[in-house]
Amino acid sequence: MKLLNVNRKFYQPIMMKAFMLLFVITFGCTSLYAQQQELKLKTEAQIVLETQHQALVLQVEENKDFNMSYLGPKLRDQQEYKLLRGMYKQTGDYTGMYAAAYTGSGARNLLEPAISVIHADGNQSLDLKYVRHEQRPIDKNITELQVDLKDAVYPFEVSLYYRMYSAEDLIEQWAVIRHQEKGRVELTKYASANLSLKADDFWLRHYHGDWITEMQAEETKLTHGIKTIDSKLGTRANLFQPSAFMLSIGRPSSENEGTVLLGGLEWSGNFKIDFELDPQDNLRILAGMNNYASTYVLKAQEDFITPKFLYTLSNEGMGKASRNLHNWARNYKLLDGQGDRLTLLNNWEATYFDFNEHKLFALLKDTKKLGVDLFLLDDGWFGNKYPRNADTSALGDWEENKEKLPNGLISLVREASRNEVKFGIWVEPEMVSPKSELYEKHPNWVVKQADRPEYYFRNQLVLDLSNPEVQDVVFKTLDDLFVKNPGLAYVKWDCNAVIYNAHSPYLKEQGNFYVDYVRGLYKVLAKFRKKYPKVPMMLCSGGGGRVDYGSLAYFTEYWPSDNTDPLERIFMQYEYSYFYPAIASANHVTDWGKQSMKFKVDVAMMGKLGFDIVVSELPEEELAFCQEAIKNYNQLKPIIWRGDQYRLADPKSEDYASICYVNEDKSEGVMFNYQVNYRQNKGSLMPIKLQGLDPQKQYRLEEINLYGQKQSPINSQAVYSGDFLMKVGFNPQLSTNRTSVVLKISESR
Ligand code: GLA
Repeated sequence: MKLLNVNRKFYQPIMMKAFMLLFVITFGCTSLYAQQQELKLKTEAQIVLETQHQALVLQVEENKDFNMSYLGPKLRDQQEYKLLRGMYKQTGDYTGMYAAAYTGSGARNLLEPAISVIHADGNQSLDLKYVRHEQRPIDKNITELQVDLKDAVYPFEVSLYYRMYSAEDLIEQWAVIRHQEKGRVELTKYASANLSLKADDFWLRHYHGDWITEMQAEETKLTHGIKTIDSKLGTRANLFQPSAFMLSIGRPSSENEGTVLLGGLEWSGNFKIDFELDPQDNLRILAGMNNYASTYVLKAQEDFITPKFLYTLSNEGMGKASRNLHNWARNYKLLDGQGDRLTLLNNWEATYFDFNEHKLFALLKDTKKLGVDLFLLDDGWFGNKYPRNADTSALGDWEENKEKLPNGLISLVREASRNEVKFGIWVEPEMVSPKSELYEKHPNWVVKQADRPEYYFRNQLVLDLSNPEVQDVVFKTLDDLFVKNPGLAYVKWDCNAVIYNAHSPYLKEQGNFYVDYVRGLYKVLAKFRKKYPKVPMMLCSGGGGRVDYGSLAYFTEYWPSDNTDPLERIFMQYEYSYFYPAIASANHVTDWGKQSMKFKVDVAMMGKLGFDIVVSELPEEELAFCQEAIKNYNQLKPIIWRGDQYRLADPKSEDYASICYVNEDKSEGVMFNYQVNYRQNKGSLMPIKLQGLDPQKQYRLEEINLYGQKQSPINSQAVYSGDFLMKVGFNPQLSTNRTSVVLKISESR
């Protein structure tokens, strides 16, 4: 014992010293490293960031301007990045303007700024200079660069972040803004990223839409000046235009050729992306939250974190860019991106608001009979003082309607379990009906202008999620459902209204409202996910009005559109598929459209399959077909959800559409083909060239989802090499009698 004490006395100081030495070595080295970095950067310096195929080069100029000098294919020899200097000539006296990595305003810059500020003393100038940078590996695939910039006159700083995902050739960029000024500081613009690209020409492919017409593509050559895509809708922000786009650099791209930058903002609120072709032909992309009606008052020492702007660069056309993004989404962003999904039967179009327990019990039996995993109870189950029998009341009163569901939701959850299916529920928790108890009790929780008449979108108003008390209420709405109904297995989170009369009764600074609303929403979602990390949840906004990667971090899937006409869906799903992987696309078979049941099911299978039909009214043959198709789907879903997707024929330019999915080891795939133009019954005269197969492997193609006993003209015994299928192709034999053909591709060993 004594000896031990002596030893302890003796060793303790030594151990302390050793520990301190270790501390000094570890942390001293980093600061030494930082010092060296700073020392090195007394003069100009270059920061090279590389992914598997691409490079982003940033430049610290002698005067400490921080510029972007290159984004493109990476060079074989790292040393040669130095030679970039002088290759891109700029003329005139505008040094530092065109290539700034984060352009300030009110000082030397005369172009569209990334950031604008009104300082505490009213001055509006900002000129950010490089201070230091640090590059850190996050894991084997990800590296992050932080660059600190500072204004020379005001205590105002911006840190730029670049997160590089090597295998996916994807970059996430964002900024953190802070100040130590005494007094009121207003941010009047605060982009996430500011890219500067150099090429002879640029083509922008962007999207517009509305309810049931989502994802209409347009492509335009950018001319000098600014082309903006933006949103001012508040909630449902992507309804008219999503922030997702594709930019072809140099010349227009096709599916497999050309240089494409595919980008989007991870933000579910107002956004603004400016494409400014400047007088010296640089393309400046400024992407971030929209500053429209949003002058943000930032307190001293508080970090203003912008959302992430993501982009991937491909030199092999749009197809490769989209596969990069799919891989990234499944690996890093989409909730449970590598996990499983539930097939389902939804009752929205089967019953609308008109149901009761008895009817729903029957639908639960149908769910089982059909062979899907889950029954999803849609709108109409809640509200008592004002029952939800139409879309004019009860949002906010999330208690079971006693007439329709006298035994509560729990009785449905139990009945579902007796039928060996799961049970899910529809909610629209951010919203409130003017005719609701919630609104009567808490009018100050609602976004509105007190002195102006209320203005409704789908007869409803939006709750003020910038208010922490309201955030708690919205969280509780969801939490209560799960606490009271253990076994609840799925949520459809809807959001049907945009924000009119934007005004928060809670906020002192109204300019902060649009930003703080979305931050409030994310807080609720994050809290929900902390308690319920993996419950599958569909992101719905009367369709795809809200899908982006800011929200998909909390959702397992999204609802592309209320338009479920399968012909329309082929076009929409085709465009959505550039940006979101098939596992996230909730596709339902409904009564929309004049096509056959086979056509409808085939189209819905290109994603996460669901049904919204009256199963009990299906002719026997159709039911049998659906049951068989669901079995096929259950076999194929790993390939559709996790395989690589190749778009083989674009319905906008051909009389048919074709898409295939191939698994990782290229041993299995599935090819979906649809005739989309019936005018001359042309079908596909030519074979359609497959992609993504192994040229060395031998394959068989078997037609599946045959309706009734019909024989397929496709010989499933014939063997073709991957080489043949990719060079010559395969003819699925589409015609007016065969408008939809699904082929299972299997390696023949
Ligand atoms: C929105 C959704 C539909 C359905 C209705 C219910 O329109 O997109 O799928 O849930 O709301 O009111």
